[in-house]
Amino acid sequence: MTRSTGHTRVKTAKGRTAQSTRWLERQLNDPYVKKAKAEGYRSRAAYKLLELDERFNLLRGVKRVVDLGIAPGGWTQVVQKKTKGATIVGIDLLPVDPIEDVTILQMDFLSDDAPRVLTEALGGDADIVLSDMAANTVGHAQTDHLRTMALVEAGMVFACEILRPGGAYVAKVLAGGADHDLVAELKRNFTAVKHAKPPASRKGSSEWYVIAQGFKGRVDVGEEG
Ligand SMILES: C[S@@+](CC[C@H](N)C(=O)[O-])C[C@H]1O[C@@H](n2cnc3c(N)ncnc32)[C@H](O)[C@@H]1O
Repeated sequence: MTRSTGHTRVKTAKGRTAQSTRWLERQLNDPYVKKAKAEGYRSRAAYKLLELDERFNLLRGVKRVVDLGIAPGGWTQVVQKKTKGATIVGIDLLPVDPIEDVTILQMDFLSDDAPRVLTEALGGDADIVLSDMAANTVGHAQTDHLRTMALVEAGMVFACEILRPGGAYVAKVLAGGADHDLVAELKRNFTAVKHAKPPASRKGSSEWYVIAQGFKGRVDVGEEG
């Protein structure tokens, strides 16, 4: 590893692929990584939520929050910082180091049980459902897109079950944003649907966020006469 003019270069080491060398070099030179370390955030992703909150005023007054794809916990730390003791329930496939006063479930959000377990753990309607979930990419653009969209869609269905009227759903999507049908469905359920790429989201990455605010409320279907 060599440092010059503040930029850290990483030499390829035995056993390290060119790709992981590039990743390491990027991490070491990323101002958000440095900032996260200095400010005690578990991930640089925390700044994406801070920036989205600044722009869309997502977290003011919220009392119940669901964090889908919580690991390692940066977004939840932001929620804790911006709210007064909000109840937070998070879920992830990966283990997460405990966070005080937060219920963390290690399970697949796409499993049949997940919505029920999350709902029981939250104990009331949510003010906001956050999803920073990303499907593991396989390098086949269409497959990656479909898998990520499946997560966004499942998150939306869940959000429409657990949100209070006026609540919000924020989800990571890929370049091009949520697809046409999904945006149409979001617009049916929320008064405002926007896309944003916060500055902390790496320019080279295809990630964007969809921000749906003003949940119109649950439509009870199947009620008889
Ligand atoms: C970018 S990270 C989240 C970072 C987090 N917002 C933070 O600030 O620390 C995305 C997470 O989504 C999780 N994830 C992906 N698919 C999932 C699924 N089906 N169920 C639960 N978690 C999932 C991954 O395990 C990963 O930890």
